[in-house]
Amino acid sequence: MADGEREDRWAAWLAERRHGGDPRSLRQVLEYLAPVRDRVIANARLTTGDRVLDVGCGDGLVAFAAVEAVGASGEVVFSDISAELLDLCRQHAAATGVLERCRFVRAPAKDLSAIADSSVDAVTLRSVLIYEADKAGAFAEFCRVLRPGGRLSLFEPVNRFASPEPADRFSFYDVSPVADLAGKVKALYEAVQPPGRDPMLDFDERDLVRLAEGAGFQEVHLTLQVDIESPEPRPWPAFLATAGNPRIPTLAEAMGQALLGEEAERFAAHLRPLVERGEGQRRVATAFLWAVR
Ligand SMILES: C[S@@+](CC[C@H](N)C(=O)[O-])C[C@H]1O[C@@H](n2cnc3c(N)ncnc32)[C@H](O)[C@@H]1O
Repeated sequence: MADGEREDRWAAWLAERRHGGDPRSLRQVLEYLAPVRDRVIANARLTTGDRVLDVGCGDGLVAFAAVEAVGASGEVVFSDISAELLDLCRQHAAATGVLERCRFVRAPAKDLSAIADSSVDAVTLRSVLIYEADKAGAFAEFCRVLRPGGRLSLFEPVNRFASPEPADRFSFYDVSPVADLAGKVKALYEAVQPPGRDPMLDFDERDLVRLAEGAGFQEVHLTLQVDIESPEPRPWPAFLATAGNPRIPTLAEAMGQALLGEEAERFAAHLRPLVERGEGQRRVATAFLWAVR
């Protein structure tokens, strides 16, 4: 399906814009995600016959692992705001013979009213709260749908760790000689996602703990991982075609909007060799939280 035909940006991002259409970048994304998925599942302590709700299921990374973990007597509720992604998961469930163990619910994390009180053994989610403005409402819903003793297990990037970026850095590449141009491109991104106010940038790990406790979870655990390291070298066309998340333009789109033709050429001439050689920094913080109702 071509991007233009996609019903929503969530599906388009997972299918293409997350990795710029580059197979190697996609492989790197999936290699990074496999252990994350496994840990979300492990922290949920699923057992045979459990009923699991995966919130913001996307294309089913965590939810299909949950289907395996709960076995033939269990059930997994796939929930997402994207009808297209729910359809994709439904088709995959049918193709792999597990459809009768899956339910599909279109709902935002802050309003899971389609799911009854105390009706699930575990709630899982990965990289969903970064898109939810009403995080307190979401945690209240997780607590409500879980049975007493039920488990919550989630993973979220803590993007505030690397925000705001210094003026001489762009995606943590040194852009001092073209800082004026970098500033124009960054201003465009910041207009879409104001630092400190956007749902992706308005919380850190302590907020996650506070939100879980505030919602009524009895037991709360959180581990934070911080990584400051060299980035992998990336092909320039893929870097240009990548958007960091579904809400923002790709770099090519942002440069097209923020820079004149000559400026874009100058900016690319400086940045391209750094990206292709992996001469920058990757600054990432991520949190696993698991809790018991
Ligand atoms: C980064 S993807 C993660 C998908 C999946 N959890 C995974 O691990 O691959 C974020 C997902 O959250 C969904 N989403 C965005 N905002 C949401 C909200 N407020 N409530 C529930 N789901 C949401 C999107 O449709 C998308 O499928």
